[in-house]
Amino acid sequence: MTVHFIGAGPGAADLITLRGRDLIAASPVCLYAGSLVPEALLAHCPPGARIVNTAPLSLDEIVAEIRAAHTAGQDVARLHSGDLSVWSAMGEQLRRLRAEGIPFDVTPGVPAFAAASAALAAEMTLPGVAQSLVLTRTGGRASAMPGGETLEAFAATGATLAVHLSVHVLDDVVARLAPILGGDCPVAVVWRASWPDQRVVRATLDTIAGACGAERGRTALIVVGRALAAEGFDESRLYAGDYDRRFRPVGTDPRFPAGTE
Ligand SMILES: C[S@@+](CC[C@H](N)C(=O)[O-])C[C@H]1O[C@@H](n2cnc3c(N)ncnc32)[C@H](O)[C@@H]1O
Repeated sequence: MTVHFIGAGPGAADLITLRGRDLIAASPVCLYAGSLVPEALLAHCPPGARIVNTAPLSLDEIVAEIRAAHTAGQDVARLHSGDLSVWSAMGEQLRRLRAEGIPFDVTPGVPAFAAASAALAAEMTLPGVAQSLVLTRTGGRASAMPGGETLEAFAATGATLAVHLSVHVLDDVVARLAPILGGDCPVAVVWRASWPDQRVVRATLDTIAGACGAERGRTALIVVGRALAAEGFDESRLYAGDYDRRFRPVGTDPRFPAGTE
């Protein structure tokens, strides 16, 4: 018996990995975080599967479901939105499972920032503009931010920022970032990336609040940074015709002659 933690992707039902889909199909129990995981994925569950929406459950109640499946020798497909590496609450479940000796494995998923980048058709790391992408959030009722992890500190690096769990405080995010990045810094808000009702608004820090109108409530990502609207960036050296590299030796004395490791 194994608990399969599976990244369910950002919303579109076909943005789950083949491995994730096959594990759902092979598991007689499916626990899914109903607030963001698309119900269409449940169609992969085998006939007669026990399917539980964990959105209204406490951690104790979720672990009780897993323990019951463990006792019955039944595999569990545990679905969380996006990928499990960020804001999935997987860590606390794994700690409980380790303590109880219940086996588990983890299958990655497409995270929201990747779906938002795709919706924007944007590369978040452009040569000479930004070479880092910060996945962050603002503090919430359930989670305070550790001291050094402020929007201001991240903005000061010039990295592209993907601000999660914060569209309801968009005006505050803008007020904190504009003095550091400038009011003309490009911003995009992507609601429900990859869902059928996806919405994208592009603007600048000065204009984004008005451009979004009153909509603050639904699931969205705020993406901020010069990479969003850059045109005059450098081309990658990796693909330059004169760049000598292992997979494309160039010149009479290549650094990695063909046939060498
Ligand atoms: C609890 S976190 C889950 C993140 C998820 N584990 C991931 O890999 O992206 C939820 C936040 O992720 C962002 N998010 C999740 N799905 C999204 C989507 N389809 N479009 C835009 N933002 C999304 C929103 O900021 C939302 O408040």
